[in-house]
Amino acid sequence: MYIQLVRTLALVALLATHKTEASAIRVIHEKITVIENVDARSPPNIIFILGDDIGYNDVGWNNPNIQTPHMNKLAKEGVILDHFYAMPLCTPSRASLLTGLYAQQLGLQRGVLDFQEPYGVPLKYKFLPQLLKTRGYHSHALGKWHLGFCDWRYTPTYRGFDTFFGFYQGYEENYQHCLSPNYIFDPIIQGDVFTQQCENQPAARREFCGAMIGLDQVVHNITEALKRHNLYDNSIVVFVSDNGGSTTFGGNNFPLRGNKGSLFEGGTRVPGFINSPLLKKTGYVYSGLFHIVDWYTTFLHLAGIKPNKNSNLNGVNQWESVSEDRPSPRTEFPYLMDIIEGIKIGAVRVGDYKLINGPSGGFSDEWTTENETVDKSYDPNFMTHYDTEIIKAYNLTDLSPKLYNLAVDPYEKNNLANEEPEKLEELRERFDYYFSIAKPAVKMDADPKGHPDKFGGIFTSGWCEAYDDVPVIISK
Ligand SMILES: *[C@@H]1O[C@H](CO)[C@@H](O)[C@H](O)[C@H]1NC(C)=O
Ligand SMILES: *[C@@H]1O[C@H](CO)[C@@H](O)[C@H](O)[C@H]1NC(C)=O
Ligand SMILES: *[C@@H]1O[C@H](CO)[C@@H](O)[C@H](O)[C@H]1NC(C)=O
Repeated sequence: MYIQLVRTLALVALLATHKTEASAIRVIHEKITVIENVDARSPPNIIFILGDDIGYNDVGWNNPNIQTPHMNKLAKEGVILDHFYAMPLCTPSRASLLTGLYAQQLGLQRGVLDFQEPYGVPLKYKFLPQLLKTRGYHSHALGKWHLGFCDWRYTPTYRGFDTFFGFYQGYEENYQHCLSPNYIFDPIIQGDVFTQQCENQPAARREFCGAMIGLDQVVHNITEALKRHNLYDNSIVVFVSDNGGSTTFGGNNFPLRGNKGSLFEGGTRVPGFINSPLLKKTGYVYSGLFHIVDWYTTFLHLAGIKPNKNSNLNGVNQWESVSEDRPSPRTEFPYLMDIIEGIKIGAVRVGDYKLINGPSGGFSDEWTTENETVDKSYDPNFMTHYDTEIIKAYNLTDLSPKLYNLAVDPYEKNNLANEEPEKLEELRERFDYYFSIAKPAVKMDADPKGHPDKFGGIFTSGWCEAYDDVPVIISK
C-alpha cells in the first residue's frame, strides 16, 4: 500500500555496520512512490541519515582510503559541515536531535540507555515529528532508536513517527529482536562483497570499511529514489554521525584526539553534510559551529513552525548561515554536563576556546593514528556492563582543567590553562552556567521485568510506566 505524501521527514538512523540499510531503502521506496500535487512552496522533505559511530576519518571526503564515492559527491555538491558536533554517545545525541534540548536537560547525559533500564525521553518533551505533523508532515523512522521503549509511549510511533521499522535499543539483532551475540557485525554483512573490497585495510577495519561501502550505496539509492519521484528539488538530505568513531569496532577519528565517549574532539566532532537544491550556495565547507541540537530549530524554521516559548529550545536556526555561507549563529555550546562522585564532568566551547573541566571520559583520550583500530585501553566485554565502564572511563582523580585554543590547536595538544588564566576564568563561568541549569543524570538499575525471557526471547515494550518529566533519582 502506498501512502500519498506531500511532505516527508524520514529519519534514517543507520548503523553503518548493520544490514538495516537495505530494508531502509526498501521502505523509503514504498513510502515515496506516489506523490501528487506537491506545492512548490510547501515545506521541504527532510531525509535525515544518522550514521552510527562514524568517526571523522571514516568518510571518503576526509579519508581517501574510505570508499564512499556517492556520499563524497553529495557532500561536495552540497555543504560539508566541518565543525559539526554531536554528543559523545548515541542516546544523548539522538535525544538532542529529536527534542532540540541538550541531553543533560533530559537526564540522559550519562552513558546510554541500557537493555533493561526503565527510562526513556520523558513524555512532556515533544519530538520533532510531533511538531512537524502540525504542518502536514508524515514521518518515518528506520533503524536504531535507543531513546527508550519500556513503555509504548516512549516508542517512535507514539512520538510523531507514522511508521517505524527497526529496533529499539542500542544493539540488538535486526530481525529477531533478540540480544545479538555478535551485536556489531551483522552476519549478513560479515564477509560479504563489500568487505572484500577492503582488503587493503588493516584486518580490524575491514568490516567497518565494507559497511561504509554498503552505507554509501544506500545513501545513493535514497537520493536516486528522490530524483526518480521528482521529490529531490524540494528535499534536504542530511548525513551526520551520532558520535565519534570507536577504534575497537574499526572506527577512526584521526587526526582528532580521543575516542567515542570522550570530551576531546574525536568523541564529538563528527562528519556531516547537507545536500539540497534549496541551498543558495553549495560546493563549500561550512566551518561555523553547528551542534546536533540545532537541527530541531532549523527544521522547524524550514517548516514554518514557531516553537512554543516555554519549550526553551537549546538549538539555533542554522539554515540561512549554511545556505548563504554566513557566520554561524552559534558561538558556544556545552559538550556535556554531569556530576559523578561529586566531580563536575563536562566541557564547554566558547568561540575558538574549549575547556574540559577535569576528567575527559572516553575509552581513550589519546590521538589515534590513521589506520589504528584497537583501543587497548578498554575491555572487550564492556558492552555487558556499559555504565560502570562509562564511569570508569572518567579518571576521577584527574581534576586539572584543560584549556585549548582550537583555532590554532585543533588536535588539543597544548593545554593553556596555566598560561591564560583570564580565558580559563571566562570559560569556567560559562561551564558553571551550563552546569547550573543541567538536570541530574537519571541512571536506573536494570529491571528484570524487561528481560527477553519474559517475552519469548525478544526485547519488547510494556513493562514500565513512562515519566512525564525528568525524575530526580539519587544516582551513584
Ligand atoms: C541499491 O539499489 C540497487 C538497484 O535497485 C540494488 O541492486 C542494491 O542492492 C541497492 N543497494 C543497497 C545497499 O541496498
Ligand atoms: C593506511 O591504510 C591505507 C590503506 O591501506 C594506506 O594507503 C595508508 O598508507 C595507510 N597509512 C599509514 C600511515 O600507514
Ligand atoms: C588519572 O589522573 C591522575 C592525575 O592527573 C594521573 O596521575 C593518573 O595517571 C591518571 N590515571 C590514569 C589511569 O590515567
